[in-house]
Amino acid sequence: MFKDNFLWGASTSAFQIEGAWNEDGKGLTSMDVRSFKKEDQIATTKVAMDHYHRFKEDVQLMKKLGMKAYRMSISWARIIPDGYGKINQKGIDFYNQLIDELVKNDIVPIVTLYHFDFPMELIKKYNGFASRECINDFVRYSKVCFENFGDRVKYWLTINEQMVISQMPNFQGIYINDKHEEKKVGWQSYHHMCIAHALVIKEYRKLHLNGFIGPVISYPTYYPASVKPEDVLTAKQVEDLKVFCLTDVHFYGKHPDYLIHYLEKHDLMFKMEEHDEELLKNAQPDFIALNWYTTGIVGAYQDGQEINNDESALKPRRDRNIKGLAQFYMNPYLEYNEWNWNTDPVGLHYALLKMWERYHLPLMIVENGLGHRDVLENNQVHDDYRIKYLQGMVKHMSKAINDGVNLISYCPWSFMDVLSSSDGIEKRYGLVYIDRTDFDCKNLKRIPKDSFYWYQKCIQKNGDIE
Ligand code: BG6
Repeated sequence: MFKDNFLWGASTSAFQIEGAWNEDGKGLTSMDVRSFKKEDQIATTKVAMDHYHRFKEDVQLMKKLGMKAYRMSISWARIIPDGYGKINQKGIDFYNQLIDELVKNDIVPIVTLYHFDFPMELIKKYNGFASRECINDFVRYSKVCFENFGDRVKYWLTINEQMVISQMPNFQGIYINDKHEEKKVGWQSYHHMCIAHALVIKEYRKLHLNGFIGPVISYPTYYPASVKPEDVLTAKQVEDLKVFCLTDVHFYGKHPDYLIHYLEKHDLMFKMEEHDEELLKNAQPDFIALNWYTTGIVGAYQDGQEINNDESALKPRRDRNIKGLAQFYMNPYLEYNEWNWNTDPVGLHYALLKMWERYHLPLMIVENGLGHRDVLENNQVHDDYRIKYLQGMVKHMSKAINDGVNLISYCPWSFMDVLSSSDGIEKRYGLVYIDRTDFDCKNLKRIPKDSFYWYQKCIQKNGDIE
């Protein structure tokens, strides 16, 4: 059963919807550059969903949906165009207007400080988070946000999917040809982000703003490929290295030994300075926010040989293998979408129990959804597949709550169709369809999909749905 004050919402992020990429003083970001590189294949950040100019209309749709909360992000380069210098008042004004509009409509803003779009000037200056200098600039930017918006924003999310962006440095704007060097730089920036996250939390506490702050964790959840002890152990190790090493450092204020051991063994260990351990301490978050989409199957690495026995007649996923550690497979019991993401509501229940049991911190789901090539027919989108997905997730969240998990919010990804982080507009997630394609902005009309009306009822009934 969901509590009466459960935060039913939906999510987006700045670069995926705002457009106006160079308007009103905004600086260039890593996600602008990344999208421009693929300009001949996908839609770019230039117009995106034009939310920058249509935010009032969008908030009215949020209200119509009955949203109690809206998970959004602030673009660092709109607030401080080069990332470190002058503050851009027009950027502050834009987010002030948006936040005011939300509050006026009784929608609680849940705001991410850094969701993939990193100011490119900081790459030029010192290679972004690969450098320690970035820590101070991120803390300063965060403080500017707290001081300007903290009277109305009570839920702050620090860094979106730190593990993903540190393993894919080009998301941060860092391009390196050598694979090993790329990983090394990735882990170094990971460490700097851990310190930045801790210092931002401490800064927030100093301001006594009477709100809550925590990280956003991408939580791929892993099942062992068989009951073979080596597979069971590997599934645990992979989950530790992809998820729990980060939540552990946030919670305990120290990098766990299993991470240090793994990085040293593979010549990937980051540099730490004398006082770093001290800096990481005493910055416990108020909650853990999760981006949760799918489950994976992992078995022990067997020199590239697939597991070959009756129990595990599993289809391999070689794209994910971690040499020397793990091999990945497809789950024959689950449905996969075109991009190989499965639908596993039971997996969400399992994941919530695991995260809750490990830390006993309130949990928020700030992303969860299904990417699909939706079709607009007579001004309608019949996305029954998405309704089925959401229905399963809501049912299993409710079960997890009954099992004692303190889950306080659910924000499906995404409120409206957004630019996918890698695949343009045609991989749609939204509850609201945006009438545009990758190469034609058309009229950008907002059209609620069938899932919008289903979710509207779900919110009205506080999750008590069939
Ligand atoms: C999450 C990101 O990893 O997944 C979002 O926080 C992203 O920004 C979402 O859009 C879905 O991934 P993709 O690649 O399909 O857009």
